Amino acid sequence: MSSSNTAGYLPRLVRYVWAEKPLILLSISFGLLGLVLPFVYPMVIGSAIDVVILAHPHNGIVPTYDQRIHWLCVLTIASAVTAVVWAVTGYCKGHFTLKLGNRIITRLRVDLFRHLQTLSLEFFARQRTGGIIWRLIHEVHEVAHVIYAGLLLVGFDFLQLIAATILLALISWKLALAVLILLPLYVLTFYFLNPRVRTSSEVVARHAGQISGNVQEQFTAISLIKTYNAEARETARFLHDNEQHLQHVLRQSHLGHLVGAVSELLVHLGTTVIIGYGCWLTMHDPRLTAGDLTKFLGYVGIMYGPLRRFADLNLVYQNSLASVRRVFRVFDIRPEIVDAPDAIPTPPRDGDVIYENVRFRYGGASDQSHVRLDEDASPDGPGPWILDGVNLHIRAGECVALIGPSGAGKTTIASLLPRLYEVNDGRILIDNVDIRDYQLAALRSAIAIVQQDAFLFSGSIRDNILYGRPDATHAAVVAAAKAANAHGFIARMREGYDTLLGERGIGLSGGQRQRISIARALLKDPRILILDEATSALDAESESLVQQALNRLMRGRTCLVIAHRLSTVRRADRILAIQNGRIVETGCHDELVALDGLYAHLVRHQLPLQAPDGEAAVIG
Ligand SMILES: Nc1ncnc2c1ncn2[C@@H]1O[C@H](COP(=O)(O)OP(=O)(O)OP(=O)(O)O)[C@@H](O)[C@H]1O
Ligand SMILES: [Mg+2]
Repeated sequence: MSSSNTAGYLPRLVRYVWAEKPLILLSISFGLLGLVLPFVYPMVIGSAIDVVILAHPHNGIVPTYDQRIHWLCVLTIASAVTAVVWAVTGYCKGHFTLKLGNRIITRLRVDLFRHLQTLSLEFFARQRTGGIIWRLIHEVHEVAHVIYAGLLLVGFDFLQLIAATILLALISWKLALAVLILLPLYVLTFYFLNPRVRTSSEVVARHAGQISGNVQEQFTAISLIKTYNAEARETARFLHDNEQHLQHVLRQSHLGHLVGAVSELLVHLGTTVIIGYGCWLTMHDPRLTAGDLTKFLGYVGIMYGPLRRFADLNLVYQNSLASVRRVFRVFDIRPEIVDAPDAIPTPPRDGDVIYENVRFRYGGASDQSHVRLDEDASPDGPGPWILDGVNLHIRAGECVALIGPSGAGKTTIASLLPRLYEVNDGRILIDNVDIRDYQLAALRSAIAIVQQDAFLFSGSIRDNILYGRPDATHAAVVAAAKAANAHGFIARMREGYDTLLGERGIGLSGGQRQRISIARALLKDPRILILDEATSALDAESESLVQQALNRLMRGRTCLVIAHRLSTVRRADRILAIQNGRIVETGCHDELVALDGLYAHLVRHQLPLQAPDGEAAVIG
């Protein structure tokens, strides 16, 4: 949380800024013009008072009436031109600066999104989605303020401050000194209060991210909340979060406005000095004219502008510095699962799968995916071994069913194959090549996973099926849907394949959703298929439709089926029983029943359900 730490992130931001050179040039040009123009009016008014109104002698010569009229015209025209140039400059400066900031934000946001996508499932399992969204949308936006407030405004304001100081000293160094004597007080205020403002800004930002995470979770679980009558409890939790947030914001506001108030005080004390000491000097020093004093007041007014803004910008700037840090910190989390330097770009052709002494535990990765986004949360250590020496050979085109009690590690075994997680020990081969030697994209293009709780994106049904192969033709989509037994119900919908699905595909039954996900997998046409039948919540008709679709999908492919239905298990070429992360039995249905071990136990005890064809269904 130290500022030196934040400073380390700024050069990285500067690289983003630097990439927009033409816009920087435009912003700086108009910024410089914008900082010069305000000086014109005090100059014009001061000269008008001295030359036109008071006819002050210049080099001992009093100007004539005609000369005064001439000057009046010149000054009026200068003032009109300034007005127009100022307006144009104001527009261009604002527009180009904002464009610059937003270009940078856009690039930063896309880079962050791309980076987040490379992070492992371990990372996402540990972060709350809302917190990640907050960082991607809100905090990246905040970063822009460092660019507006920090790089541009503060830079220009600083130059303006120096220019004003020089002009003040040229008019009367004594008066300038008297006004500037207050400046050290100003610096001291910043010096003492700034670190506190920054810390409290960090707290506010972090807490807002947490609230966002909580709310995201709450709305995701809205049906659970309703069925457990937990609305009041959840509202209380939200209320509590907000009360806390209010306290943090109030502290931030207190500190921020304290800085603001002190700076206002100093500004007005400065004006007081000019009124008192300035008038006294004009009375006693003939070289200092009324026009000079007017200019002086004008320049001081300009000088206070930046000083006042420093105080306002301070809060914004500190906020966004905190965001810069929090955004770039995400970039520092290196992805764990990446392509090897000379990985094979072609997908495996046959789909012969071998697991060799595979050991795995969650959180045991060597990278930083276990690091939490919030820097003060302690990283999680590795968990217990979930897979402890798994040996397995699925020949190309073979169908193997995994069964076992809940938590045995079935889903974990399957997740290792497309490298959603990385094995800690041992290796997995496809077509006799270590899966780490394939390019990730090639490996994953050969594998499809179908889960019973199929995830559908909001969008049309067609888009959801096309997800399997975005360049497929409409005919291919329809063929896949037909093979998946989905064409019938899709065709009955008013807009057919263009029917839009709500978030998570609300509006479809479980069986329909699953058939769409099967169509998606069919379109992908993978060599290796993983079926994870997490629950068996389909009614009899749906079940048989889904089963038919699955059979078509499985035909001719290497299949790893995590089976909960006896009908699926019996159709498999081989059954593996998993317990405590090891394969404890292997064989066909009859062999395993004869063995009278885990499988026989599962078939006997966990299965009161009868499948439609009279078979018992296995619940894992
Ligand atoms: N992301 C994770 N982080 C940490 N531990 C996990 C994670 N996912 C699963 N586990 C643990 O790994 C073990 C095996 O989980 P897995 O999902 O492989 O079981 P399963 O055999 O598929 O069970 P089920 O039949 O209930 O789906 C469980 O003890 C679980 O607690
Ligand atoms: Mg599972």
